[in-house]
Amino acid sequence: MQHPTKSTLKNTSKIILAVCIISLAACNHSAKKTVANSIMTDTTKPLLPSKTGFEKTIDGKKTHLYLLKNKNGAEAAITNYGGHLLALLVPDKNGKLTDVVLGFDDIDGYKKAMSSYYGATIGRYGNRIAKGHFILDGRRYDLFINNKPNTLHGGSKGFNDVVWDASQANDQSITMTYLSKDGEEGYPGNLNVKVTYELTDDNSIKISYEATTDKNTIINLTNHSYFNLNGVGSGTILDHTLQLRAANYTPIDSTSIPTGEIAPVAGTPFDFTQPATIGSRINNTDTQLKNGSGYDHNFVLDKHDISTPIATATGDESGIVLEVFTDEPGIQFYSGNFMSGTNTFLNGKTDDQRTGFCLETQHFPDSPNHPKFPSTELKPGETYKTVTIYKFSVKK
Ligand code: GLA
Repeated sequence: MQHPTKSTLKNTSKIILAVCIISLAACNHSAKKTVANSIMTDTTKPLLPSKTGFEKTIDGKKTHLYLLKNKNGAEAAITNYGGHLLALLVPDKNGKLTDVVLGFDDIDGYKKAMSSYYGATIGRYGNRIAKGHFILDGRRYDLFINNKPNTLHGGSKGFNDVVWDASQANDQSITMTYLSKDGEEGYPGNLNVKVTYELTDDNSIKISYEATTDKNTIINLTNHSYFNLNGVGSGTILDHTLQLRAANYTPIDSTSIPTGEIAPVAGTPFDFTQPATIGSRINNTDTQLKNGSGYDHNFVLDKHDISTPIATATGDESGIVLEVFTDEPGIQFYSGNFMSGTNTFLNGKTDDQRTGFCLETQHFPDSPNHPKFPSTELKPGETYKTVTIYKFSVKK
């Protein structure tokens, strides 16, 4: 056997070195591939907002992010700052988790987009009060005019901008309480409010509201989540299908205040009694659509007994179906007309016009100034109680 010379040795070691480098590179490559694969696997689950973005002290109170998870893997993120629903992950027709609620990754995002009320708990009075005043027991109460010439969603600092006390009972529910003091934002009576979010195993977010007062007052609580059933930032909601169990609606004037009339939807672009896409008639020449800059109207629900869905929406791409159940007499269908593209959601997408829609269960807007509308008065000794369920499934 020929002994290796210095040069063959040198060459052999060069070869060994090269083999090592190649195999190391291969190893590294496959490691990278594994990392890439695992990142890819991770990206199939949408981002949830980070806890740190919600850990703050506001008005001397601590804010946090709370996570809910049900037995089927659906997840929700909620903060006690303004009682916002931050994100909601439910499966689409392929079983892929999809975030269907528009939201930001920190409190600053919510502060910046405040006038859009993304995901917020709304109070003391949801929607508008004409010219910012109402009469109760013969006395006039004046509110802050934050949506000229009216008051919208509570006033200058509504329940969406206060810190609630929160306690998380278990993985699937969180309860928040807030004392709105007598005279806060101009409303009479110390109002003790309780809101519970529950993520149930049938992929529903159930929101239960309760309140008591020590003086006659008015109240109309709601949640202002924007939905995109194809997923946050996936584009327009105009191709979503919507059905509303409402044969009537309350037409509005040019400042979005109900005229007082309860008008039939039949023969108008407001007829969603049969499923129709949101965009099919939104650009029709119609005074009501003009007044709302699109759909931004209260629908008078035919039935409101919590056992029947009063609204059903379907994402055209995801097949995700949202059914809304409520005991409230009305629902504000808002087609995201004022979304401006100036805010960035947690997945980096912007809030372009009509890339989300709201279904805000409620008493009718401006009820305190319309004695014929169902009353929004709450008296000492009474308990305000209302429930809304947003249930998610997939199209069969
Ligand atoms: C409500 C109102 C709308 C609009 C949105 C927030 O739904 O009815 O007019 O103000 O809130 O942008």
